[in-house]
Amino acid sequence: MGKYMKSLIILYSYHHHNTEKVAKTIAPILGADIKSPEDVNPEEFQEYDLVGFGSGIYAYKHHKTLLDLADRLSQSEGKKAFLFSTSGAKIGSGMIRITSKFHDELREKLQSKGYIIVNEFNCKGFDTNSALKLIGGINRGRPNAEDLKNAETFALKLKNSQQKC
Ligand SMILES: Cc1cc2nc3c(=O)[nH]c(=O)nc-3n(C[C@H](O)[C@H](O)[C@H](O)COP(=O)(O)O)c2cc1C
Repeated sequence: MGKYMKSLIILYSYHHHNTEKVAKTIAPILGADIKSPEDVNPEEFQEYDLVGFGSGIYAYKHHKTLLDLADRLSQSEGKKAFLFSTSGAKIGSGMIRITSKFHDELREKLQSKGYIIVNEFNCKGFDTNSALKLIGGINRGRPNAEDLKNAETFALKLKNSQQKC
C-alpha cells in the first residue's frame, strides 16, 4: 500500500495575485495546504514529504520572504521541493539569459539545506511594475487558461512521480 504523500505550498503573491492563481491550481491536485512564508514555522516542514515554494519574480528573484525562509530552514537531507513563479518576462524562451536565472537564488539556498528540487514551473503574469504602468502594463490576463492548464499538467506530473517513489 502506497504511503499517503503530504504536501505543503509556501506562497507569496501580492502584485496582482498572479502566482496565487497558479498555487490554487496546483494545491488541490497535490492535496496541499497553502501557507505564507511569514506564518509558517520551519519545524512544520518535518510533517511534509513535498514542499512547493512560489512567488512572483521581483528584481530577478523570488520574494525576499521566501529567500529569508529558506535561510531559516534546518538541514533536511533529501527533502523534496518544487519551485514556481510568475514573472513579467518568460523564463527560458529565448529571452535574455538573465530570465532563466530567476529561480537560481532560491534553488541554491534550498539545495544548500539538502533539499532536492524535483521540478520547476514558471509562466507570465500581468505586470504593471513602475514605468510599465504608463503603458497599461504587460501580459494583461496572464496567467490565462492555457497557463493554468500547464500548471495543472505540472502538478499531475509531480503527483505521479511522487507516487512512484
Ligand atoms: C517590485 C516588482 C519587481 C518586479 N521585478 C520583475 C523582474 O525582475 N523580472 C520580471 O520578469 N518581472 C518582474 N516583476 C513582475 C512580476 O514578476 C509579475 O507581475 C508577477 O506575476 C507578480 O506576481 P504576483 O501577482 O503573484 O505578486 C516585478 C514586479 C514588481 C511589483
